[in-house]
Amino acid sequence: TRPLRLALLGCGSVGSQVVRLLHEQADDLTARVGAPIELVGVAVRRPELHRDLGGYQVPAELLTTDAAALVARGDLDLVVEVIGGIEPARALILSALENGASVVTANKALLAEDGSTLFAAAEKAGRDLYFEASVAGAIPILRPLRESLAGDRVRRVMGIVNGTTNFILDKMDSSGTGFAEALEEAQELGYAEADPTADVEGYDAAAKAAILASLAFHTRVTASDVYREGIAEVSASDVASAREMGAVVKLLAICELGEGRDGPAVAARVHPAMIPRTHPLASVREAYNAVFVESEAAGQLMFYGPGAGGAPTASAVLGDVVTVARNRLADVRGAGESAYAALDVLPMGQT
Ligand code: HSE
Repeated sequence: TRPLRLALLGCGSVGSQVVRLLHEQADDLTARVGAPIELVGVAVRRPELHRDLGGYQVPAELLTTDAAALVARGDLDLVVEVIGGIEPARALILSALENGASVVTANKALLAEDGSTLFAAAEKAGRDLYFEASVAGAIPILRPLRESLAGDRVRRVMGIVNGTTNFILDKMDSSGTGFAEALEEAQELGYAEADPTADVEGYDAAAKAAILASLAFHTRVTASDVYREGIAEVSASDVASAREMGAVVKLLAICELGEGRDGPAVAARVHPAMIPRTHPLASVREAYNAVFVESEAAGQLMFYGPGAGGAPTASAVLGDVVTVARNRLADVRGAGESAYAALDVLPMGQT
């Protein structure tokens, strides 16, 4: 079988782990997919920073600063986008799809702002667009919502979906570490966004809430539909008084079905909340994430695991790569966007 050609856009904390896993697990991946996956290009801003990935050297001839030319070369089967942000990621993904590649992305900000443009392009191109890594790092949560629970009725999705803020709040709670010091540590561990304001102010969690709500309720929720409050106002004394009351402060994302004027409507919000220490979400430490799903037939489900960081997020990316690669070989597409009904979305903050 011919090798499947993969191009990688971005080689930061997630991208470099994708390259490492593609290299180290090449034989397993070949066996699981049914064909070898060949890395044919890695688009980066500064090639001089990418010589060594913990013992594995990215072949210099694979590195390019011309991402646009890489995705437009016309012979790619798969494009993995881990640059983040809206542009140039959106233009590159659209070009990749138009040029016949299936796309795997971890880009929650883009999906939450303009997912419909990407899904329409994938539909038109007849290619896959997979994004498991965009929410809650390594935790398989999107495919369960989109596929495993597609025969059920989800009522509510609630969770801790930002590793950086959970890490900060946990440090403030457990060791009295100051906010700035905890943030710095989260950045060093590769949890934080390039601009950590997105984590601290709740934008990252709001984007993830929009993606979760869209899949859980088969509708379109964008980041601007999500009520958002970050943790910048949470002080050491707030954390201490929560502790005295037997509670802990967590940044929660809550998506649920409410009552709109003309029937059921979706509401999504992100804000810090005090939860009792006996609550299962209170035991989510460091950069771990957890997502609770309540549905009509299944009842309560809990998904828990590493929510950020290079290798965990790369695990989710690689899982999508395997699925999308199998689909390419079988000449089929995975779950498309046909399932989206037009549920109303309630105005921000209303439930
Ligand atoms: N900055 C994000 C977080 C990375 O801290 O959760 C994972 O999306």
